[in-house]
Amino acid sequence: MGARTNRQWLLAKRPEGMVGEHNFECVERPAPEPAEGEVLVRNVYLSFDPTQRGWMEDRESYMPPVRIGEPMRAGSVGRVVASRHPGFAEGDWVQGTGGWQDYFVTDGGGPVPLSKVPEGVPPTYVLSVLGVTGLTAYFGFLDLGVPQPGETVLVSGAAGATGSVAGQIARIKGCRVIGIAGGAEKCAWLTGPARFDAAIDYRNEDVRQRLAETCPDRINIFFDNVGGDILEAALDHIALHARVVLCGGISAYNATTPPPGPRNLLNLIIMRARMEGFIVLDYYDRAGAAVKDLLGWIESGELIHEEDVQEGFTNIPATLTRLFTGQNRGKQLLKIDGAE
Ligand SMILES: NC(=O)c1ccc[n+]([C@@H]2O[C@H](COP(=O)([O-])OP(=O)(O)OC[C@H]3O[C@@H](n4cnc5c(N)ncnc54)[C@H](OP(=O)(O)O)[C@@H]3O)[C@@H](O)[C@H]2O)c1
Repeated sequence: MGARTNRQWLLAKRPEGMVGEHNFECVERPAPEPAEGEVLVRNVYLSFDPTQRGWMEDRESYMPPVRIGEPMRAGSVGRVVASRHPGFAEGDWVQGTGGWQDYFVTDGGGPVPLSKVPEGVPPTYVLSVLGVTGLTAYFGFLDLGVPQPGETVLVSGAAGATGSVAGQIARIKGCRVIGIAGGAEKCAWLTGPARFDAAIDYRNEDVRQRLAETCPDRINIFFDNVGGDILEAALDHIALHARVVLCGGISAYNATTPPPGPRNLLNLIIMRARMEGFIVLDYYDRAGAAVKDLLGWIESGELIHEEDVQEGFTNIPATLTRLFTGQNRGKQLLKIDGAE
């Protein structure tokens, strides 16, 4: 056990502007050994999430910041390689917060407790459509959006892991759904296999004009992953009693100074609308029911999802950057070389 080498990417420098490899340092150390009540896990797949950019900053948030010199925090799925914990056995596929490293030890606790990958479910699914992004879409859209059949739903970041699931749930619930995404290829995926009613390419089209064209009855629910100009444009088109679900604001995550908020917030008053943020961790006690619904929709073909699996330990920092340049096609993952 002591002979195992643990490669780690440590947080070396807090980010200013776009995050990249310069913020991290790669080291090799002996792998830890599990104490009584702990397991040793070999990470196989890492999850990449825009919120990791926030965890790198030294500010108050829903989780403490990653400290300088610590392995970068990340969701992961892997195999138990040694167990001194009664709930886990060697060989189990488990999901946890393993971080950017080959191995980690845990007592199974934490904000996202270590859990076994359900039988028959591909391990990557618990990081994607049945994991954080799928659950975020499910609870954010259904609990805060409160969709009614026939309503018009707008989703930004629509071709991404969270947005694509939120938009498809809108369709499943009988809504008309319009997605905003960057580039013709992502928009074609939205109106093709993902069966959105319309798509707006924010990189090449006039978003305000396209919103007027695609949402003639205005927007009842806006599920926003992006913030900034897109949020402002959408607020100009909200309907009476609209629900604006603030899921994320990725357009500002790498900004050196926070951009000013939307200039038209008062539309919320005129339209008697509601705008509300949420953090998916608050809903984990209901994850079982959500996973059941999501799996049912996957099996019936109503819900599709894509995973973008990069490879190689050295590519870890560059893979995080892909989220902020829109290179990812669906849920961003990375398979660690030498793992399985
Ligand atoms: N509230 C919660 O609990 C919770 C939980 C999970 C995720 N989230 C949020 O959900 C959002 C999506 O996360 P995800 O993990 O599903 O990632 P994702 O959507 O799969 O990937 C991020 C996407 O954001 C888009 N993007 C990046 N920079 C942008 C910019 N400046 N303007 C417009 N779009 C930009 C890119 O798509 P394009 O190519 O289309 O630009 C990129 O592919 C994020 O805001 C994240 O923080 C919130």
